[in-house]
Amino acid sequence: MTGEIITIQVGQCGNQIGKHFWSQLAKEHGIDRDGQGTVGDSPSRIRDDDTNPFFKMNDSNRYTPRALMLDLEPSAIQDVQNHFPGMFDSRASWISPEELGAGNSWSKGYDYGLANQDNFLNMIDKEIDSTDNFEGFQLIHSVAGGTGSGLGSSLLEAISDRYPKKFLTTYSVFPSSESEVVIQPYNTILTLRRLSENSDASVVFDNNALLNLTSRVFRDPYTSYLHTNQLISAAMSSITNSIRFPSYMYNSLPSIFSTMIPTPDLHFLIPGFTPFTSDYVTGGKDHKNNTPYDILLDLFDGSNSMVSHNTESPTYFSVYCSLIGMLEQNDILRAITKAQQRLNFAPWSYSSVHVNVGSRSPYLASQSGQNQTSGLILSNTSSVISLFDVSCKTFDKIFSKGAFLNTFKDGKMFQNGWDEFAESRQVVQNLVEEYLAAEQETYLDDVLLDEENIVGHHDVDMDTEADDNII
Ligand code: GTP
Repeated sequence: MTGEIITIQVGQCGNQIGKHFWSQLAKEHGIDRDGQGTVGDSPSRIRDDDTNPFFKMNDSNRYTPRALMLDLEPSAIQDVQNHFPGMFDSRASWISPEELGAGNSWSKGYDYGLANQDNFLNMIDKEIDSTDNFEGFQLIHSVAGGTGSGLGSSLLEAISDRYPKKFLTTYSVFPSSESEVVIQPYNTILTLRRLSENSDASVVFDNNALLNLTSRVFRDPYTSYLHTNQLISAAMSSITNSIRFPSYMYNSLPSIFSTMIPTPDLHFLIPGFTPFTSDYVTGGKDHKNNTPYDILLDLFDGSNSMVSHNTESPTYFSVYCSLIGMLEQNDILRAITKAQQRLNFAPWSYSSVHVNVGSRSPYLASQSGQNQTSGLILSNTSSVISLFDVSCKTFDKIFSKGAFLNTFKDGKMFQNGWDEFAESRQVVQNLVEEYLAAEQETYLDDVLLDEENIVGHHDVDMDTEADDNII
């Protein structure tokens, strides 16, 4: 039985993205905004899809997201609750009594997290009580504000400490290069330390790449978070497709992510997506009716990536694609062979491209004459270094001058000085060095001496027909 996953959305960004994620999931599982099933649902009705990993049934037979919503100010959570009247469990949200936000300060968010840690862990325990086979968490947040980054960081520490065996994933949004607030690089580096040390897998997005994508995807020339968040939720719903429409492979968080993560340090994954069909976005521009062959190859095109990078020929450590729609197996094999020839895989990496062929939800409207096939890629690649580099450079610039540190001086973590900044910066430096080392042929020599540790047994693992056969 597929395990249950608890989603924790923190801060404005986390809750706004969460709203789109739950809209997408509700649409794909035939659930109304009030939590009622749209097709005369009853507990005895047999579904082909599996709502259980992400929804529980409440006493009045409504689907309730397995979600916690946390914020220091009310607007984002209230917006979610208004949009889905009665769908969320009212006991599963927390807004600080002061309702003031963290004013972009990581340390304020972190201290609120510490002060309310028992309360949050109680909320999580209550949520776990309504599971039979609890599998893990997904945290949605931004790394740059105060709440998602600071409170999110303290939660990451608390969760990995309390539930070390449960899989902890994050969907982490990095700021655009024109960051609105000067202390964002501090928040980002302090949060990156927790992502590096406490999360099992982090899917990263950056607002630069997202804003570029939105101007290509949407007819509306004025881009907003309303747009970027539909792109993120398209990626999130595709990553979880094989869990919610289960098949033999990739039906749990560990089974998806363990194919991607060769060593615990290399757990930052870059998503890409194409095309954004009307299954995922509203108000999108028309797109070509591409074949699965074209879609798979397009996924490797940097312009479809949700993280901008300047690496000309990145080194790939692993790749996972999830294709959803009508698919020809031959098409897929041809595209994978081509991609494997084109991509620069790390010499030790077995050049694996893992492919899941997911199911398109039967609840989505069928569009005659339109090919509704779309694809998601998750890449574990050295190009993620660009993302860390941008944060490190801006951090170094201000930290070397001791600039803007006042915001942090009341924080508990900083009562004895600024060591935490230097240590976090060092953790990120080590991470960059680990990615650089992973480009080398000898990276896994020590590990591979032990046969049991060999990674990537197949060149291609896939379930192209969604018929549970491994090819
Ligand atoms: P405080 O406002 O300090 O309490 O913290 P917070 O975590 O609530 O802040 P927020 O989530 O607004 O984080 C700020 C960063 O997130 C900035 O880089 C914003 O550009 C980005 N951001 C905020 N909301 C969204 C959103 O809905 N989508 C995306 N993609 N980015 C967002």
